[in-house]
Amino acid sequence: MTDKCAVVTGSSSGIGKAVCELLLKANYKVVGIARDHSKFTPNDNNYFPYEVDLKDQSQTTDVAKALLKAHPEATVLVSNAGQGSFNPIENFSTSQIKDFLDLNLISHILLSQIFVRHLKARSGGNIIFLGSEAGLTGKRKATLYSAAKFGLRGFSQALSDEVRASNIRVSLINPGLVRTPFFDLLGFRPGDEQTHAIEAEDVAQVVMTILSSRSQTIMDEINMSPAKNVIKFDS
Ligand SMILES: NC(=O)c1ccc[n+]([C@@H]2O[C@H](COP(=O)([O-])OP(=O)(O)OC[C@H]3O[C@@H](n4cnc5c(N)ncnc54)[C@H](OP(=O)(O)O)[C@@H]3O)[C@@H](O)[C@H]2O)c1
Repeated sequence: MTDKCAVVTGSSSGIGKAVCELLLKANYKVVGIARDHSKFTPNDNNYFPYEVDLKDQSQTTDVAKALLKAHPEATVLVSNAGQGSFNPIENFSTSQIKDFLDLNLISHILLSQIFVRHLKARSGGNIIFLGSEAGLTGKRKATLYSAAKFGLRGFSQALSDEVRASNIRVSLINPGLVRTPFFDLLGFRPGDEQTHAIEAEDVAQVVMTILSSRSQTIMDEINMSPAKNVIKFDS
């Protein structure tokens, strides 16, 4: 019977799925959050899928509270779920802007707020956010994505300072291009060579390194990039 338990958002695909696989291998109980769990069905009794649309704030907070009641031993949140949308700013409707920020920024804030309350009552734990290189530098057509990721970065830095005295370690991982289904509907993707993209497993390894590091050390922010930055546009 394992006593290690992690909650991973965006568990059904890409980086989140790779993180779940390594956590399960390391004998964690894993609570996965996504809308469509049919994409990842590990044959493992330690995997607990919860269906949530993280754009929906009341659904997000209700399910987060319920899952922590069901899994009070959870001491890790990997707040990873997100989506890209890259267009000139005038192409977005007001509701698209709201939905985008609800998923890519607000849901991370709401989940970590609930987790901080939970972890303070349990004497500590880890919160790991998936940021992006777009949270370090703004580029054209990435206004909303950068707004969310810069916001998440500021939130992560301030939260880390606020909760470290309570033994809660907050980390942010900022990858460049990672080869995942993230690009399926975007019209571009990393180039085909191995050097053109980080693999989801590389990011998952960084998550495991953070979790297995000495508890008195905090890895605030980790930037990752592929050896060569090559983008391929779909025809
Ligand atoms: N791929 C890259 O190049 C890259 C680079 C830097 C940072 N990132 C960041 O890494 C994170 C993971 O991206 P990825 O590359 O692994 O993409 P992905 O393969 O498309 O996975 C995204 C995950 O987020 C979940 N998700 C999306 N919308 C959701 C919603 N409304 N409610 C609940 N879950 C939702 C998806 O699950 P469902 O669709 O089943 O709901 C899926 O599990 C994102 O935050 C992304 O911004 C990615």
